[in-house]
Amino acid sequence: MSNIGSYEEQIKDFDWSISEKELGYKDGDVINIGWYCSDRICEMGKADKTAFIWEGFGGQKKQYTFNDIRLAGNTIGSYLRGLGIKDGDRVCLFMDRIPELYLGFLGVLKIGAIAQPLFSAFGDESLHVRLENAETRAIITQRKHVKKVRKIRDSLPHLEFIIIVDHDGKKPLQEKEIAFSLKDADPVEEFDIFPTKAESPSVLHYTSGTTGQPKGVKHVHYSLIGQYLTSKWVLDLQDDDIYWCTADPGWVTGTSYGIIAPWSLGVTQCVLDTGFSADAWYGFIAKHRVTVWYSAPTAIRSLMKAGEEAVLKHDLSSLRHLASVGEPLNAEAVIWSEKVFGLAFHDTYWQTETGAIMLTNFPGMNIKPGSMGKPFPGITGVILDPETHEPIQEPNKPGLIAFKPGWPSMMRTYWNNEETFQSKFVNGWYLSGDRATIDQDGYFWFVGRDDDVINTGGHLVSPFEVESALLEHEAVAESAVVAKPDDVNMEVVKAFVTLKPGFNQSAELELKIMNFIRKKLSPLAMPQEIEYMDNLPKTRSGKIMRRLLHAKEWGEDIGDTSTLEDDD
Ligand code: WTA
Repeated sequence: MSNIGSYEEQIKDFDWSISEKELGYKDGDVINIGWYCSDRICEMGKADKTAFIWEGFGGQKKQYTFNDIRLAGNTIGSYLRGLGIKDGDRVCLFMDRIPELYLGFLGVLKIGAIAQPLFSAFGDESLHVRLENAETRAIITQRKHVKKVRKIRDSLPHLEFIIIVDHDGKKPLQEKEIAFSLKDADPVEEFDIFPTKAESPSVLHYTSGTTGQPKGVKHVHYSLIGQYLTSKWVLDLQDDDIYWCTADPGWVTGTSYGIIAPWSLGVTQCVLDTGFSADAWYGFIAKHRVTVWYSAPTAIRSLMKAGEEAVLKHDLSSLRHLASVGEPLNAEAVIWSEKVFGLAFHDTYWQTETGAIMLTNFPGMNIKPGSMGKPFPGITGVILDPETHEPIQEPNKPGLIAFKPGWPSMMRTYWNNEETFQSKFVNGWYLSGDRATIDQDGYFWFVGRDDDVINTGGHLVSPFEVESALLEHEAVAESAVVAKPDDVNMEVVKAFVTLKPGFNQSAELELKIMNFIRKKLSPLAMPQEIEYMDNLPKTRSGKIMRRLLHAKEWGEDIGDTSTLEDDD
């Protein structure tokens, strides 16, 4: 039995108060996600239930009950409070997927501070722009990542504390650095959780746009109302499930559905902090008897590549529900998963900005492979005409995906960038920035993004950020960055560059430039290919025609270049 009845039944008379009631929340009450994810579950009699099973490289393993995560959240919260960190302060979590990342998230929320998770593979420049924009006061990190923080700390006046969770005492701590070990700290049993309200800020996730610096998406504690119910109905999480969300909490899926979803429902979750390999992933599912699995199309395509033999080596009979998010889930992947696991991946669509699932294939719903499904109850989703911004009534006609604002987990603004936030609304609709069609049965079908952002393996990369970083390389005179098609990642980053006088085109230089970007930004943003050009195509006003280069990569008709010029 799944948690919901038929889609039609569920959508009738839907009201978010269903979620509020289940969580025992009333308008005006205190609502703190840290408390909901640990203390409340303990109060419900599940203190000794396993909350978290963690595995790292080299077979390291840790396990925590709900009482353990409650105490750890208190202990980290109390430590931060002792440093003088208070509600509203931004605390960055810059770690691999180690337990301190998950437990630190609870601790930060419990004191009413704002959790700012950042992907640990970010290079110093990616880190710098995000910490600078958020005026972050403390960063919690690991020894292996502290070098990147040291490089930029002097130009971050608001950064007061660099907290290292695994300092071994071998090398002296440097300026602003302090060591904190959860293992050695006295567990804090009684703790005054900060009384955050619905609109108190909770999480700040950075997302990349086509132009300008990355934007800090501000979420609030009330987002729980949406995250809780979508987890229950879409992921179908139930009391005896063992849940695995493969996303990194540096990105929104890893927090909304990799921390808040399972723990606010009192469900056991497991995390694997090692690189990808089909054998390791299947082995992990088999070992922990994973029942519900939330993953991403790139991972699924990589598993497809590994073939059916890899599946047959493991006992995956525990699996009962599969879901996917982050990029287009192609029909073949759905059909394949049905064949090899006996279960179809249920596609879901949402964004950092929406905070929770917006479009979905519900358990029990007839899946049309390749479609993103239908709006979650309470969500009004439409396709707008790109010119008039009026909803298109005709089926199968492409336009802009838009939603009627007002769902609980919607972002509240972009940090220090209200203007860009406001620009996302037209005619009373929130514009997602994606294009799709709706068929005669109300199913949404993804067409593409409405901007130049590159979605590589489910991670958004800004061409602007990569172009700017390229210009910092001594050999690069001009740069243009576009997506290039890729079998597994769907898109990868490709750069076109012209060189400064005195530099010669060579494979060695290409590697050097790639590495430069990997270190500065991240492995995701690193161009997989660099093409040297004598001149980049430009408009009459001198702007680089990125779209022309994009069309070339995708074998598309370049069409009338005069319109491209106008567009730019
Ligand atoms: C894309 C991730 C096709 C889309 C939760 C969106 C998808 C962006 C799907 C958000 C899907 C997400 N099918 N495309 N099912 N889900 N996307 O902010 O372009 O990292 O706008 O949030 O990913 O990415 P973000």
